[in-house]
Amino acid sequence: MVKKPRQRWGSRIGVVLATAGNAVGLGNLLRFPSKVALYGGGAFIIPYLISLALLGLPLMWIEWMAGRYGGARGHGSTVGIIGTLFKSRTAKIIGRIIGVVGVAAPVLIIMYYIYIESWTLGFSLSALFGWLPEPVKTTDTAMALKPFGEFLAEYTKPTPFAYLIFWITVLLNWYVLQRGIRYGIEILAKYGMPLLLVMAVFLAVVIFFSKGPNDHWSALKGLEFIWKPDFSRILDARVWVEAAGQIFFTLSLGMGAIATYASYVKEKDDIVVTGMATASTNEFVEVVLGSAIAIPAAFVFFGPASIPELAQAGTFRIGFMSMPAALNSLPGGQFYSFLWFFLLFIAAFTSSVALIQPMITFFEDELRWNHTKAVAVAMITVIVGAHFAIFLPKFIDELDFWAGSFMLIFFGLIEIILFIWIFGPDNFHREINKGAQIKLPRWVAYLAGTVSLGFLLVITVMWVTQNVTDPKFLVTGNAGQWAARIVILVLFLWLAFYAVVSTPKEE
Ligand code: PHE
Repeated sequence: MVKKPRQRWGSRIGVVLATAGNAVGLGNLLRFPSKVALYGGGAFIIPYLISLALLGLPLMWIEWMAGRYGGARGHGSTVGIIGTLFKSRTAKIIGRIIGVVGVAAPVLIIMYYIYIESWTLGFSLSALFGWLPEPVKTTDTAMALKPFGEFLAEYTKPTPFAYLIFWITVLLNWYVLQRGIRYGIEILAKYGMPLLLVMAVFLAVVIFFSKGPNDHWSALKGLEFIWKPDFSRILDARVWVEAAGQIFFTLSLGMGAIATYASYVKEKDDIVVTGMATASTNEFVEVVLGSAIAIPAAFVFFGPASIPELAQAGTFRIGFMSMPAALNSLPGGQFYSFLWFFLLFIAAFTSSVALIQPMITFFEDELRWNHTKAVAVAMITVIVGAHFAIFLPKFIDELDFWAGSFMLIFFGLIEIILFIWIFGPDNFHREINKGAQIKLPRWVAYLAGTVSLGFLLVITVMWVTQNVTDPKFLVTGNAGQWAARIVILVLFLWLAFYAVVSTPKEE
């Protein structure tokens, strides 16, 4: 059979921007501030930075290596990439089944991610049309937030407008993915990423200089809350698990999304530097800009006491309630609110295409479907799943629990075992340094294989003991939770079936 050449990125800067766009998303600007607030600011930051060094960077390089290696052999999804590591047919099939996690997890995440993405578009349009509530002049935080909470509750019912915007978001994603790697995703990132950076810096500056109702509340105090090390909860296992989970989520690791993008680079492209660039851009947007917007804004306008309360009320309270409430009270506030939500939308858009692409790549590389069919089947899967997220309460939380937390940690573990130990640390070292200007030292491979692996094992055990000890675990649940579990199971079986039947005879 004649193989069609795989798609490729068009330029070096395009690859860097596209993968940065992959990583920079709602995780940086919404999830990070919420987790920081929930787990006590400076107490969260220490495990977060340790996880970045021990898990984030090594896994980033592992996925770049795995992706380029697989891509050169015609495989860009983790199913195909892991398959290439094994000679014997049985081992190959088992490897491919394990690889299904790296296709299923992003699909499961996108089922709710795309819905939240559509809120950001809907809210930015609402700001533009002047539909957001008028700010209430008061020093009473609860009073000031009330109309915005009501607006959010009404919107997410969902209103017909919200449902329409959901479809527009889906079609925008469909369009970009149909145009492909180079003419879709890369072009989106080339315009989107610079725009995103400019908007984020601008908003951070506006917030830094704005004055709230009370002179003692300042943006600086918000930064201090995040960055002043607080060792009081350093022994709290939950904080460690959440910090490691955030590193995976924000860097798009542990689900094959980076590997899939990496599979479209040329064989001699420098992936050591590119991997580093992906991680640094993401961390800049997360710890610098992500720290400088939502939490400082809440400090200025609602005071320090509001932060834990907002975070406890849900991940989206800070972004969709306190932010517009704060920004709307400035002169020209609707415009700032528009910027905030549009910024979120761009960040989410460049990530949502990255969450869908692994499935498209799987269909194209393994099942040999043509591009249009691969995109259509992936999009229909996303649309069906998203309807559960829209209409069934608790579906989102259950999916986030499994796909947005457990699978990432678990698959990260598998990736280290496979690409360091089974592939061989020396092979890993040789392979990643192909085409590299600055070579990655050999000890990094051994560090990843030992210290990172050990650390991740501890995190996995902590996760399991925290979550599985409840005797009612997995036995109880409401309709949304059961729907999520069934969706996960059906998706796995479906993809595993394809992964097995498409196992190549020889390669
Ligand atoms: N990293 C993205 C974010 O921070 C989410 C994401 C995860 C995107 C996995 C692609 C793949 O929002």
